[in-house]
Amino acid sequence: MDYLAAETRYDESGMDFRRCGRSGVLLPGVSLGFWHNFGGVDTYEKCRSIAHYAFDHGITHFDLANNYGPPYGSAEVTMGHMMDQDFRPYRDELFISTKAGYDMWPGPYGNWGSRKYMMASLDQSLKRMHLEYVDLYYSHRYDPNTPLEETLQALVDVVRQGKALYVGISRWPLEALKVADKYLREHDVPLLIYQGRINLLDRAPVEDGILDYCAANGIGFISFSPLAQGLLTDRYLNGIPEGSRMTREHFLKSSSLTPQLVDYLKHLNGIAEKRGESLAEMALAWILHLKGVTSVLVGASSPEQLAKNLKSVHSEPFDDAEIGDGHNILTQNT
Ligand SMILES: NC(=O)c1ccc[n+]([C@@H]2O[C@H](COP(=O)([O-])OP(=O)(O)OC[C@H]3O[C@@H](n4cnc5c(N)ncnc54)[C@H](OP(=O)(O)O)[C@@H]3O)[C@@H](O)[C@H]2O)c1
Repeated sequence: MDYLAAETRYDESGMDFRRCGRSGVLLPGVSLGFWHNFGGVDTYEKCRSIAHYAFDHGITHFDLANNYGPPYGSAEVTMGHMMDQDFRPYRDELFISTKAGYDMWPGPYGNWGSRKYMMASLDQSLKRMHLEYVDLYYSHRYDPNTPLEETLQALVDVVRQGKALYVGISRWPLEALKVADKYLREHDVPLLIYQGRINLLDRAPVEDGILDYCAANGIGFISFSPLAQGLLTDRYLNGIPEGSRMTREHFLKSSSLTPQLVDYLKHLNGIAEKRGESLAEMALAWILHLKGVTSVLVGASSPEQLAKNLKSVHSEPFDDAEIGDGHNILTQNT
């Protein structure tokens, strides 16, 4: 069936659009990631229903990477099918990102940060997504063995070629972020955004000074895995439900669900209840209230989850003393 986007998607969705650093771009407070649930192993109609729900409710930013799936590349293939079937008329209302940096194809040129890899990977991504350009292209991770300038110049050049409008970096340490900021600014392709993980169980980019640096230098910040892959929801408060990410034992392992962690999650859930919110809603709102954060980049396995998560954009500020500091309780392995 043909897709017609909801006419209420901006006026009545209540989405909060937030300026991304010192740029002209506004991003929705809640963005949608395609890491899980959009691969070749997933049901296409379900992918569509999640993406439709998102766009119908003001989520204009979809985040992908070359190797999202499984199998690798298949989330971009799903995006390509949806472009053809649903989203082509709305291309200019969508902000689509992709990345390269992790292993993608065999041999020495399908991983890390070389110019060879960064350029070839974006060409492949555009083909899979049936796009002429992406809105945002990221270096997915810091490569300690490639000169930073080589990776950064590749980012500059894809913008010059018209294959990306903006560039970003993900998971680069603070000192490398500073180099990237300076290099890209000097080459007239300012760093739009940093993608890092901040959530109630992991505050590393706050503690390392990355969020402050971004805020002070006009760089946006988007937080991936803001729900710690589902831990910061009601999903695991009473065991491990069938069909949940943890049952797959890949990126989220059942061994991480220690009694200590469950106690802390229940403590947080109690605070959320007092605030009249779900734990997911509160966990996202906590991030959105941090100075310098542009958007939270959620995953979802159903439109219903997204519906709950969207409420976070209107949540009240926090008393941090009450929340406590649980960030040492979990060792995250992704
Ligand atoms: N830059 C990087 O290196 C990097 C790394 C990781 C992720 N990312 C990006 O960040 C995006 C989000 O990552 P993520 O999927 O880990 O995010 P997340 O939002 O922390 O976790 C999403 C998962 O939590 C569960 N969930 C979500 N809302 C829920 C709700 N209201 N109630 C109950 N459960 C709920 C679902 O798990 P179930 O499947 O169990 O239902 C969902 O798949 C990715 O898609 C990707 O775009 C980037």
